[in-house]
Amino acid sequence: MSQTTQKIFQPLEEALAHHKPLGEERQGEAYMAAGAADARKLAYIETYGCQMNFSDTEIIASMLTDKGFSFTPNETEADLVLINTCSIRENAEQRVWHRLDHLKHIKKKRPGMMVGVVGCMAERLKTKLLDEEKLVDMVIGPDAYRSLPALIDEVESGQRAVNVLLSREETYAEIAPVRLNTNGVSAFISIMRGCNNMCSFCVVPFTRGRERSRDPESIVHEARELVSNGYREVTLLGQNVDSYRVEGTGFARLLERVAQVHPDLRVRFSTSNPRDMTDEVIHIIAAYPNICNFIHLPVQSGNTEILHKMNRGHHREWYLERIARIREIVPDIGLSTDIITGFCGETEAQHQDTLSLMEAVRYDSAFMFYYSERPGTPAAKKLPDDVPLEVKKRRLQEIVDLQNRHSLESNLKDVGCTFRVLIEGNSKRSESDWCGRNDQNKMLVFPKGSRTDLQPGSYVHVRVTQVTGATLIGEIV
Ligand code: SAH
Ligand code: F3S
Repeated sequence: MSQTTQKIFQPLEEALAHHKPLGEERQGEAYMAAGAADARKLAYIETYGCQMNFSDTEIIASMLTDKGFSFTPNETEADLVLINTCSIRENAEQRVWHRLDHLKHIKKKRPGMMVGVVGCMAERLKTKLLDEEKLVDMVIGPDAYRSLPALIDEVESGQRAVNVLLSREETYAEIAPVRLNTNGVSAFISIMRGCNNMCSFCVVPFTRGRERSRDPESIVHEARELVSNGYREVTLLGQNVDSYRVEGTGFARLLERVAQVHPDLRVRFSTSNPRDMTDEVIHIIAAYPNICNFIHLPVQSGNTEILHKMNRGHHREWYLERIARIREIVPDIGLSTDIITGFCGETEAQHQDTLSLMEAVRYDSAFMFYYSERPGTPAAKKLPDDVPLEVKKRRLQEIVDLQNRHSLESNLKDVGCTFRVLIEGNSKRSESDWCGRNDQNKMLVFPKGSRTDLQPGSYVHVRVTQVTGATLIGEIV
């Protein structure tokens, strides 16, 4: 594999920077430079959705590299266009439909171009994607990426190809991801796939299948390789990392083993589930300085009855108890969450419970959504989606406004404090500033000044001088 990563593409950089939750829609193109005088075919991959999808794109890129492809940033010159899709909310799917419409025009001009839809929409809609679009040649679900080379052969021989089989075993454990558009500092490591939780609103158990954990040796090996290639931060990914288990190794032990790979390797993870998060994991976070003091702990709602309807397996008091325990063991922990407003039957009083829970916890950041009914989920089958859209939007605005206030207050407390920051690269606005995050996952921006020894991947101490709701601004000390 002789490719080099040519350029950091902003959306993925943002994804890494902000540590978005596993269901957040995002988009990024993956590409690498073709080698000189390279006769390899060109692939273009566009990724929507969560961190897991970005991680899957790196698996797909590995398959394509073995099949003789190089990567292009330009869909108009590609022999193969793959769209890695997200189904988590309706608007995530809408975006993909718009992209497919656009690709139709390109394909009219270049009929030889192969188009594949992969990921969660492929799994959810299956052959419907072939029927409805006179465009799509290939439909591949998240557990079927190993069949990509064979499916490409089928398409090249004039057929259309589909593989949406879900697996109980597939973890792509030994496949070395091709790191397409990273900043060279932070990388994702997928530690498990699928989800068994069946939260009633969620399509993931249907699009990604049963939960299964990846062999810990292969995870530790991947972390070591990353360190030797200059990476300084890994995020361990799973829909519910606390239920990771392979024989004697649970999540706490895995976290510890990855932390032991190198003291300068920062370890993050996503996502924890309040019902499964153990004290053991919290103690491991406290024990290892290189495991970041940051937990993304989705709550979804502050009302116990709604949580019950959501089949979340935790209630309000349980959640608050977990938060109290986390803060007792790791007092300077950074906390973020996911919130869904306007779930089936949610009353005004129940909405107020979400706001009061936010007041009680005071998250540093949050991802906030209004409920979007997904076909085939338990909620879609049993519970009417009866909160009017205007009400959902108004409640969401109240939640967003409150969180913005909390985020700013949390940042204001950091003024005057000094943090150890891992430099990720130039700030978005200026080449004379670095950006990077602290242990609590907050983004800092600061002038490079006269320190010519620093580069992406360096650690530096930065004192905070001013803040916005989203960023800490500081100076090197
Ligand atoms: N296990 C993953 C969840 C992935 S979905 C994780 O914990 O990160 C990410 C977030 O999307 C969920 O936490 C939830 O807040 C939101 N979400 C999921 N299904 C949704 C739906 N039908 N409507 C609105 N938001 C949804
Ligand atoms: Fe979805 Fe709940 Fe699993 S939100 S991904 S079913 S933990």
